[in-house]
Amino acid sequence: MLQKTLAIIKPDAVAAGKAGAIIARYEKAGFRILAMKMVRLNQAQAEGFYEVHKQRPFFGSLTAFMTSGPCIPMILEAEDAIAKNRELMGATDPAEAAEGTLRADFAENKERNAVHGSDAPETAEKEIAFFFSPYELLAL
Ligand code: RTP
Ligand code: MG
Repeated sequence: MLQKTLAIIKPDAVAAGKAGAIIARYEKAGFRILAMKMVRLNQAQAEGFYEVHKQRPFFGSLTAFMTSGPCIPMILEAEDAIAKNRELMGATDPAEAAEGTLRADFAENKERNAVHGSDAPETAEKEIAFFFSPYELLAL
């Protein structure tokens, strides 16, 4: 089933000049990039995006990281895009990520882990709407 997912190149990877290499990996893996922009989240936006983690001990550190510089959200389309992107990303902690995954190749550590990917159809829809307005989606 052709599906959309939201990916983010996180501030660590953008600051390290790895955005271009990561975008190339999405394309090489067969994703079609439907939309993309560079934004800098403010504190309230980062807290909203990761609201599901607000009780976790790493929430403050995670939102500080996500506001530390620009990030690049994008809509990726492919057959089973959500699962396919989770596979391409690898485990949350790069030390546990399979060889050849984005996190194995680009992440610094479990928090500064280079990329985000939606984890279910409901979160994909919500996260796409978080970053892209209906007007930006009209052409898709
Ligand atoms: P993401 O949502 O960013 O795609 O990552 P994920 O599903 O692999 O991991 P998740 O459990 O949803 O955690 C969201 C992000 O929080 C940071 N994190 N830090 N210090 C820690 O133990 C820890 N655990 C998670 C990471 O940036 C992770 O991607
Ligand atoms: Mg997650």
